[in-house]
Amino acid sequence: MKHTDIKQVLLSADMVGSEVVVCGWVRTFRDSAQVAFLELSDGTSFRKLQVVIDKSALQPDPETTKLGASVAVKGTVVKAYKGDGNELNAKEVALLGKCPPEYPIQKKRTTLEFLRGIPHLRLRTNTFAAVFRVRSVAAQAIHRYFHEHGYYYINAPLITASDCEGAGEMFRVTTQPWNAAAESEREYFKNDFFGVKAGLSVSGQLEGEVAATALGKIYTFGPSFRAENSNTTRHLAEFWHVEPEIAFAELPDVIEIAEDMLRYLVRAVLAECPDELKFFDTFAEKGLIEKLSAVADSDFAVCTYTEAIAILEKQNAHFQFPVKWGSDLQSEHEKYLTEVVFKRPVFVTDYPKEIKSFYMKQNADGKTVAATDLLVPGIGEIIGGSEREADLGKLRQAMVARGMDEAAYRQYLDLRRFGSVPHGGFGLGFERFVMYCTGMENIRDVTLFPRAVKYIP
Ligand code: 4AD
Ligand code: MG
Repeated sequence: MKHTDIKQVLLSADMVGSEVVVCGWVRTFRDSAQVAFLELSDGTSFRKLQVVIDKSALQPDPETTKLGASVAVKGTVVKAYKGDGNELNAKEVALLGKCPPEYPIQKKRTTLEFLRGIPHLRLRTNTFAAVFRVRSVAAQAIHRYFHEHGYYYINAPLITASDCEGAGEMFRVTTQPWNAAAESEREYFKNDFFGVKAGLSVSGQLEGEVAATALGKIYTFGPSFRAENSNTTRHLAEFWHVEPEIAFAELPDVIEIAEDMLRYLVRAVLAECPDELKFFDTFAEKGLIEKLSAVADSDFAVCTYTEAIAILEKQNAHFQFPVKWGSDLQSEHEKYLTEVVFKRPVFVTDYPKEIKSFYMKQNADGKTVAATDLLVPGIGEIIGGSEREADLGKLRQAMVARGMDEAAYRQYLDLRRFGSVPHGGFGLGFERFVMYCTGMENIRDVTLFPRAVKYIP
């Protein structure tokens, strides 16, 4: 259907005077004796197009004025009577699809919780359309950042036989009938499609390392799956994961790249989504634009885990889970560090080896690993990364200590056998980044069809 995007009609000064066809959904209708006004949205911009109907010349079909109906309007572009931009003087209004009054997206402000129950329709609200425009801009910026900095885009497999994070949170991939009988686990999987226990990948990192130790700088950007039993506002069973991996990089390089990338992404969203951010600044998080502008322009903080624990221990009385050296940081501790102590994003580095993954580079102190988590206000952990253990002997030791099956990681160990190099990388949770940019407080509200524990709408 030949038509012009509303974004273009609204904003291009050189369109004034031309005749166009626009298509969209009716967002409001106001009627008076001589004129009527239809507000149309086609998703291309945050702002809606005002269509002016001169009733002495045109009597619109009442179905074309109903909230949610889809219409095509032919008309002349004129400068807006009020405010900047353009509006449309209608000559013809044609109905594309009726919208009966039981349409659940009504004008009165509904709750996010109610809208979660209608995931197939909620994108027609201002809030959700804005979230998904920001999400798209951020995704494009990720590809642009890595492309501009000489990284290759790699697609890691989603079905895998090796667990990267080793936290026992993998979804099983199987063709076995539910009541398959077997004498042992090994016997059971022998009859399965792959002949071994397979699952959905929790991270593309291990394959990313394969690619980085040949191509130098790579990134993956795809879904990761975790059967985490955490029913929180920051966990999904299926999330999108950005994972760069860089050969010849040590922990300080990893930190520098993570900060540079994050600031690039924030600048892109600030530049490309001004209307959306203004909206979120008003309705989701007061001060959002100021927060993002500060992130774009100032350095992040860095502190070691040991320093962080020293700070947190003084506040133990206020925490639900008091900390001591060796304990994993809970969300309340992460938030305290980034929101109260540093008041900006902070990289925490050099965690105890017992609470981190097997592949992280072991520090000379024998107690910590060269890991880093980036914590940001409002969210907590948004990035997890590390330098990788490049020494074959030490890596095998770490696997033995965790009772891991070496045979399943033969290829990964080969990377340390043949021309091993220092290397590292990190993972950014894409949905957490979208939450950070929009001020949305629940990860289920930045995902088209969120999947979580007992939740598959
Ligand atoms: O810290 P994580 O577990 O690190 C890894 O998976 C490494 N292999 C990354 C790497 O070094 N290449 O996960 C990285 C990030 C987290 O910081 C978080 O933002 C996000 O992924 N994440 C989740 N996001 C939503 N739902 C979940 N269940 C998530 N689990 C992790
Ligand atoms: Mg982590």
